[in-house]
Amino acid sequence: MTKRGMDTFHLIVLPIVLLCCVVGICGETEVHGTCTKDDGVDCGSTSSSLEVSPIITKLDGVEVGHVQDVILGGKTHQMTTLSMKPQVLEIKHFLTDEECDHVVRLAKKDGMFDSVTNTPTKSGSVKVMDMNQDTALSLREFILTIENSFDIYLDEDDMLKMYSELGMDRNGDTEISREELHGQDPKSVIDWLTDYVDKRPYKKSRMSRQAWLYPSKIHDKILDEIQERVVSLVGLPRILIDKNDEFQVVQYGPKGHYHAHWDSGSWAEKYPCCHHVKSGARCKSCRFMTVLLYLNEVEGGGATAFPIANNETFNENSFRMSGKINLHRHCEDANLVVPAEKGKAIIWYNHHLDPTTGWVGEMDSFTLHGGCGVTSGHKWIANKWILVSDKRDKDLDPNFKPNRA
Ligand SMILES: *[C@@H]1O[C@H](CO)[C@@H](O)[C@H](O)[C@H]1NC(C)=O
Repeated sequence: MTKRGMDTFHLIVLPIVLLCCVVGICGETEVHGTCTKDDGVDCGSTSSSLEVSPIITKLDGVEVGHVQDVILGGKTHQMTTLSMKPQVLEIKHFLTDEECDHVVRLAKKDGMFDSVTNTPTKSGSVKVMDMNQDTALSLREFILTIENSFDIYLDEDDMLKMYSELGMDRNGDTEISREELHGQDPKSVIDWLTDYVDKRPYKKSRMSRQAWLYPSKIHDKILDEIQERVVSLVGLPRILIDKNDEFQVVQYGPKGHYHAHWDSGSWAEKYPCCHHVKSGARCKSCRFMTVLLYLNEVEGGGATAFPIANNETFNENSFRMSGKINLHRHCEDANLVVPAEKGKAIIWYNHHLDPTTGWVGEMDSFTLHGGCGVTSGHKWIANKWILVSDKRDKDLDPNFKPNRA
């Protein structure tokens, strides 16, 4: 979202949130748009051609701790299973130090830009988190409301600062009652929040810089070799990788992070996949697989955390209530924490397979993950997403040109 978009969004959404609370209907409201033909795509359901044999497969991690040899470009690598739910596999020294340095150089040469989060559901949804429906917002509930509606992650001290600077909490009980909200100009809250995060960008869900590298455009021998190694590793039809060949190189500076999120979206979302529509159209990111490459040794912090790996069930609300989405504060509370190590690759599957179609199925919620805060130095990584849509024929058609990131 652009800064301007964000501001407009603040102006529209917060009054709605506050208004809801004032009239006493603080509940959970989700507003979703609908898929229209204007997006330039058809919004029909997934086609399933049962007669086609499955051609999407996953590597088998067997069990946690299992180590298997994989031969890539004539060199034997060891692949270790870190987790089975979701399946996360690790290959140390997947890249040489020289290759890592080279990719960083390419990204710097290309130019790094501030990362913006592009979460389609964020812009269209308002979640007012009066969990106990008492028409007053506790500190925790107000924090969650701001997290969900504005993508801003405050802690209790930040909130108390806001209450005191705006004179919001008149009786000093740290709850914002209906009466206290009533006396508050929503604009003052929005202005305060805008100013506060402008000065503290690490309060946003993501703070990093990035560049996109396209092997097919830059014709770089080393990048091509890395691409080839990824193709050999994942064992998927190479056309999927050739058609969407980009690497996203990300640099996290001090306090840089990316709070817990999913790389892909729910299959139930009736939007087309982003790689099948013109940029700007409403779409879902269809990232079947994530290949994450660590490009340097980080001085402090910067691990990748999977907060709910191996949990028995997943409940989004209970997760949000726990506050563990914030990986500045809760990195070590995650169920799986993978330290950054130069040259290491970790891979995981953001989606299940659909046994009836042999193609990609629903997203795997347990892949929720993020980048923990960098406490000192910088962290460089490259992400490679293997995009697969619910339209098998388009994905496999060499003449169907996807949209580029
Ligand atoms: C983890 O699993 C337990 C047991 O099924 C469940 O009660 C809890 O809500 C789960 N945690 C999250 C964050 O979903």
